[in-house]
Amino acid sequence: MHTSLLKQVYDTEAFRKKGHELIDQLADHLEDKLQQKSGNAIHWNEPEKELTFWETFLEKGDKNELFSEITKRTTYIHHPHYIGHQVTPTAPMTALTGMISSLLNNGMAVYEMGMSPSAIERVVTDVLCKKIGYDTNSGGFITSGGTLANLTALLTARKVSIDADIWNQGSTQQLGIMVSEQAHYCVDRAAKIMGLGEQGIIKIPTTTDFRMNTALLEDKYTEAQQKGIHIFAIIGSAPSTATGMFDDLQKIADFAKSKKLWFHIDGAHGGAAIFSPKYKTLLKGIDEADSVVIDGHKMMMMPALTTALLYKKSAHTNVTFSQKADYLLSESELEDWCNSGKKTFECTKTMMSIHWFTLLKLYGEDVFDAYVTHLFDLGAQFAKIIKRHSKFEIAVTPMSNIVCFKYVDKHASLEAQNKQNETIRQALLVDGEFYIVQTKLRGVHYLRVTVMNPFTTEVHFKNLLDKICKLADTV
Ligand SMILES: Cc1ncc(COP(=O)(O)O)c(C=O)c1O
Repeated sequence: MHTSLLKQVYDTEAFRKKGHELIDQLADHLEDKLQQKSGNAIHWNEPEKELTFWETFLEKGDKNELFSEITKRTTYIHHPHYIGHQVTPTAPMTALTGMISSLLNNGMAVYEMGMSPSAIERVVTDVLCKKIGYDTNSGGFITSGGTLANLTALLTARKVSIDADIWNQGSTQQLGIMVSEQAHYCVDRAAKIMGLGEQGIIKIPTTTDFRMNTALLEDKYTEAQQKGIHIFAIIGSAPSTATGMFDDLQKIADFAKSKKLWFHIDGAHGGAAIFSPKYKTLLKGIDEADSVVIDGHKMMMMPALTTALLYKKSAHTNVTFSQKADYLLSESELEDWCNSGKKTFECTKTMMSIHWFTLLKLYGEDVFDAYVTHLFDLGAQFAKIIKRHSKFEIAVTPMSNIVCFKYVDKHASLEAQNKQNETIRQALLVDGEFYIVQTKLRGVHYLRVTVMNPFTTEVHFKNLLDKICKLADTV
């Protein structure tokens, strides 16, 4: 009985048939969303109702409808009305590479368990290092997400910068990092995992435009030193999540150099601008960073999760999880570029590198320029429309495709306006025609969009604002 069930699981003809059906279904889904044939970006369902649906489906649902039900009951990232979180509408070809990875299941911890994805990972990370402006001593790897990549980079920073074997022996010394108060929360999380505590996270206040106030660095550093905190790293946000504003990386690089700190850049969102001749100036100073994180699943059209962690010195890729007291590696270990598990937090990982390589091979580097440049342009375009509209106020002129704005009722108190914007956003979610998100900045409740779909246009932006005005009259 067991064998016949297992034979059913591995029935290649059933896979072929279902696979063809699925590709047809997904292509129809794509066409429907990209061409906006159906109106909504989401069909909102309360969590409890959704749970009941799936509990019932497991018992009584028609298995022929399984894939279509899953697809239908999601947020439609490929719809031009999806302008919410920083999640990319995947390039369809990377859904195919995702399928290759899932089926072949080459985990890559050791070269023998993934020859092509391991070598491909080297090719891809070399391309990225070159684009950053690093020399041939650089190198990197691909790991599961920006959160993990930032943690990994900070662990490397500690290993390289602190003259003690903390990895093996722990530490009682109070260590610290410097980071903008607007940085993504995963940096805080990484610092706490590393045992730095709240006191070890030196938050640098931001300027009125939400960028790290680099004029305060010297004082903040001295203050921390006086408290006995040994700062070993500084992190630049490129950009920060809530507002999409880029820190002045060159200033941070200069400061890091003057204090001999590890300089890390969280470029999870905007690091991809290394491919954009128009916008790469936002990353000025990136080539001086010791490490850089770039997410493929944010601004590079790849499925989640896939993140590149690039180091100015490729030797540093091997030190983070080294079980040895001394991080300086022997020649043979340095050459051991192909056993990815030594360098990453993960043991087994998916064949992520093939998404990057496939896009490069099929469309060339220009595809990343086309995507990033167009979306950053759209961010600027949306900001202009908001600024011209009397009922809206923008939080800050955007530097990227992230735009924060609010509906304004001039006669209402700040508290009432905050409540109104929160209610508008909830009404938008339930309505489902557009999907946008929200954030709070210095006590003000803002609506927040990230333009992720290259087919979102000025008309969609205007329709969104019209819709908000109508909702504001009713909420
Ligand atoms: C600046 C920044 N860093 C890191 C992250 C976390 O990345 P991931 O979701 O890939 O773990 C995000 C996610 O939004 C981000 O915006």
